[in-house]
Amino acid sequence: MGVLDGKVCLVTGASRGIGRAIALALAEAGGDVALNYMTSREPAEEVAGLIQAMGHRAKVYKANVANDEENHVMVEQILKDFGPVQVIVNNAGITRDRSFAKMTYQMWHEVLEVDLTGPALITHALLQPMMESGWGRVINITSIVGEMGNFGQSNYAAAKGGLIALTKTLAREFARKNITVNAVAPGFIETDMTSVVPGEALEKVKSMTPVGRLGKPEEVAAAVVFLASPHASFITGAVLDVNGGLYM
Ligand code: NAI
Repeated sequence: MGVLDGKVCLVTGASRGIGRAIALALAEAGGDVALNYMTSREPAEEVAGLIQAMGHRAKVYKANVANDEENHVMVEQILKDFGPVQVIVNNAGITRDRSFAKMTYQMWHEVLEVDLTGPALITHALLQPMMESGWGRVINITSIVGEMGNFGQSNYAAAKGGLIALTKTLAREFARKNITVNAVAPGFIETDMTSVVPGEALEKVKSMTPVGRLGKPEEVAAAVVFLASPHASFITGAVLDVNGGLYM
């Protein structure tokens, strides 16, 4: 028996990186998984195939999480296919880095829309049936940058810091509905997102990290599964750092 047996989960941005690892880990814990992707259907289908091979339900859904209309079409289809979603993992995210002085409105707006408005829209669209099901988990993937700031990432830091504030507010609003709302804040994790960071900068990060290395997507996924599980039933409004001690 898995800790998430029979639970319907949605992971946004599930085709690669941390989202992929989360989708697979939720399925390993017994969950059925709806996989959101925006552009890359094939890798998302591959993740769905791996989950089906574990004996669980999985299906892919295309939507830009920053687009309310696309989200509603996706949510309607997921509810038809799976019934109420009980575990929402808001993972999809982007960066558009530049020093604040040189940042354009477009770069600011895009990151806020995907990284902050996206999770709010997805959660809003799924909350009613989640409440009716009598049990729920919302897990927002924020970032160490939302906690401590970072040079060249004012847009991303504001979005991820905002996501922490949203997490705490929703935790208060939905606690009595048996829904917990938590955030996971990864440090530097080996994915496509960090592959664009210059090697020298990554070496510096490693040397500043007590654990002495970057994290793996599976290490973030393990924290998500814990927060989704019944073991975390008294934890809400928390930010779980998965950063090797880089920020504490
Ligand atoms: P990634 O770039 O490898 O994957 C992001 C995924 O989100 C991709 O599948 C992408 O297609 C999807 N996505 C982007 N915009 C989307 C949209 N508008 N609608 C739907 N899907 C969209 O990034 P990674 O590293 O796996 O990041 C996952 C999450 O973890 C992000 O929220 C990121 O901010 C966060 N994070 C990552 C860290 C890292 O070091 N890699 C550190 C801290 C947080």
